[in-house]
Formats: sequence, C-alpha cells, structure tokens
Amino acid sequence: MKTIKEIDLSGKRVLLRAELNVPLNDRGDIVDDYRLRLAVPTIKYILEKGAKQLVIMGHLGRPDGKVVPKLKMDRVAVRLMKLIGKNVYKVDYCVGKGLPREKIILLENLRFDSREEANDEDFAQKLSVYGDVYVNDSFATSHREHASFAAITKFLPGCIGLRVKEELENLDIKKMKHPIVTLIGGAKLKTKIPLIQAMVVKAEKVLIGGAMIFTFYAADGLEIGKSMCDTNYLMNAKVMLHNEKLVLPKDVVIADYENKEAGIRTVAYDKIPKKSIGLDIGEKSVEEFKKELRKAETIIWNGPMGYYEKPPFDKATNELIKTIAEYDKVKIIGGGDTADAVNKLDLSHKFTFLSSGGGAALEFLSGKKLAAFKALEENEINFFS
Ligand code: 3PG
Repeated sequence: MKTIKEIDLSGKRVLLRAELNVPLNDRGDIVDDYRLRLAVPTIKYILEKGAKQLVIMGHLGRPDGKVVPKLKMDRVAVRLMKLIGKNVYKVDYCVGKGLPREKIILLENLRFDSREEANDEDFAQKLSVYGDVYVNDSFATSHREHASFAAITKFLPGCIGLRVKEELENLDIKKMKHPIVTLIGGAKLKTKIPLIQAMVVKAEKVLIGGAMIFTFYAADGLEIGKSMCDTNYLMNAKVMLHNEKLVLPKDVVIADYENKEAGIRTVAYDKIPKKSIGLDIGEKSVEEFKKELRKAETIIWNGPMGYYEKPPFDKATNELIKTIAEYDKVKIIGGGDTADAVNKLDLSHKFTFLSSGGGAALEFLSGKKLAAFKALEENEINFFS
C-alpha cells in the first residue's frame, strides 16, 4: 500500500477521505473535535506539496441514506477552517455536479446517499471525477466496505494519509515488544471474541473486565444475578474459560438491580446475589491486574472495566488509567470508549498511542485485514507498476 509521501501531489486534484465523524450534541454542535484535529497534518501536507485542489469527503452519524439536517457538514467545515486557518468551501452535494474553483472543498455527508454504504460503483466513479489522486486518511471507518473506501480505489490511484500510516504502525502487534499484556473490557462478549482469541495467541496475558465477565461466570455455572449475559456466546466463553493466559476478576462491584444507587458493595465473583447486578470489577482484581501489567513491556487496552459512564462504576477504569499512565512502558489504547475515558481524565499525553477508531481498531488488533486497505492493495497494480 502506498503512503501519501510516495505520491507526487504537485498540480494534482486530491480527493481525501477524512475521518469527520465527530460527536454532536442534540442541537448538532460539535462537542469534541479530536478527530478533526487528527485530520489537519494530512490536509496541510497536501497543500504544502502543491496540490491544485483538495476535495475532502466524509460522513457524520448514521443518516441511513436520507438527508438529516443536523448531520450536514456545515459545522465541520467551519471547525476545519479554524483548525487549518484557510477557507473551506462547503458544497451541498457529494456527487453529480461540477465543483467550484475553490482551493479546498468539503462535500456533503456521504451517507445522505445510500449508495455510499452499498459500496456502489457508479457512486464511487462519480466521486472519483473530483480527483486525480485518492487519499484514505480515515482509519476509524476503514473497516467498512463503503464506496468512499473500497469501490473508489478502482477508479483512482490511491494511498493512505499520515494518520492512517501512524495507526497502522502503532497497532501492529508484530512490531510490539514482548511481554505483551492485553486488557480487554466492554459489555458484549460477542464483539470481543475475535480480539480475545487473537490475544491469547499473540500476548502473554489477557486480562478481562467489563460486563462480559458475567458471560464467563455464567458459562462456568455461577450465579450472576441480573448481570448482563450474552447467552448466545456461552459456549465460546466456556471454551476460552480455562485458557491459562486469561485472567478474570476475582471480585466485582454490585448494586441492586431495581435501584442501582442502592446496595453498592464489592463481593467475590462467585457470591453475586440473585437480585443484584454487577457493574464494575473490584479492588482486589484491580490490584491483581496491576501486578500483571507491571510485567509487560507493551500494554494494549480495549474496552472499559465497568459501567464507566455512571460513577461510581468508573472507579476501576479510572484507577487503571491513572496507574498505567505512570508506567514506563509502551501503552496503546485501542480507541472507542477507552480513548474517551483517557481523554476525560486528560491523560492522553501519558500514553504512547490512542487509536482514533473503535470498531476499526478492534478488527485490526484482532488480525483482520480492514476492507479499505484490502481494496487499496488489490487495485494498486492498476495504477502503479
Ligand atoms: C466511527 O465513528 O467509529 C467511524 O466513523 C465508523 O462509524 P460507523 O460505525 O457508523 O460506521
């Protein structure tokens, strides 16, 4: 796969797929522009290298092929303008019309057109007329086989941008120093099975937290009260349960199911009362996890340890973030909720790398080739020889 530094951009029209999917509040205002800030180096690089025109495209939210006014790209254009200090001309369409002669153009939300998610070739071809070169700098959506990632690579010579290159380098397990200790949390076992399966092969230890622990306990025949359980994945949990690299919490924080502000206490993992719900891992488990983490050269973390959106069930997650932040090790955060939790504590600078992608980081760390990169590689031969 070519990187942007291997392509001559001078005098070219560059079509950039950027990660513009930022969180919005109810009014549609941007509440966190982290991803837009990550887009800036590639945008500046393209302009510095003398591109004739830069056409930026991306998506916001999940409008399902319909125009949703709150998800228009206007606010993104305004924020990008501030970040790069240059005019960004936003158009109200993404295909089918000619572009003005402006230097930097932002297309309308690609997902307003259902052909984007359908990976429609005709849509991709129409997008491709806006550029001479295609750049994918949106790691967080690269696991989607959508037109602006996959089909587009059939029509234009393509490469990856600076941020995607950084993501691929930092999340490459083959390049990581051993021992690797992985911390995997989150609610649904279903979504984490591929990662756990990959990590019990590639890492030295796999520490499990988050609500998915209850599926493991249930698979072991234990009472889990009203705690979350992925009943369809009990067999998978049972198979993984006795892997010697896997460490499950020995104590959990519970609350009354009917009123989660009452009955909050820590109990052993095999003493969960019938009417309680488990919402965090306990202190003893946090201490045991720290002991294992101290043995690592590289720590990879994906998924919070408890129901971290609702204090006090954020305690284990926050405690581990603060502790790991002080370790002198390579510390990789696999995006999504974990990155949010780190950012909330304002500790991102203490970590080696925070991925910008949730689902994409999960798939990549699980060893899967992401759809966008597969397409770039497959079609490279048609443009570069
Ligand atoms: C993200 O926000 O993680 C990416 O932009 C992908 O968005 P999606 O899950 O709606 O495809």
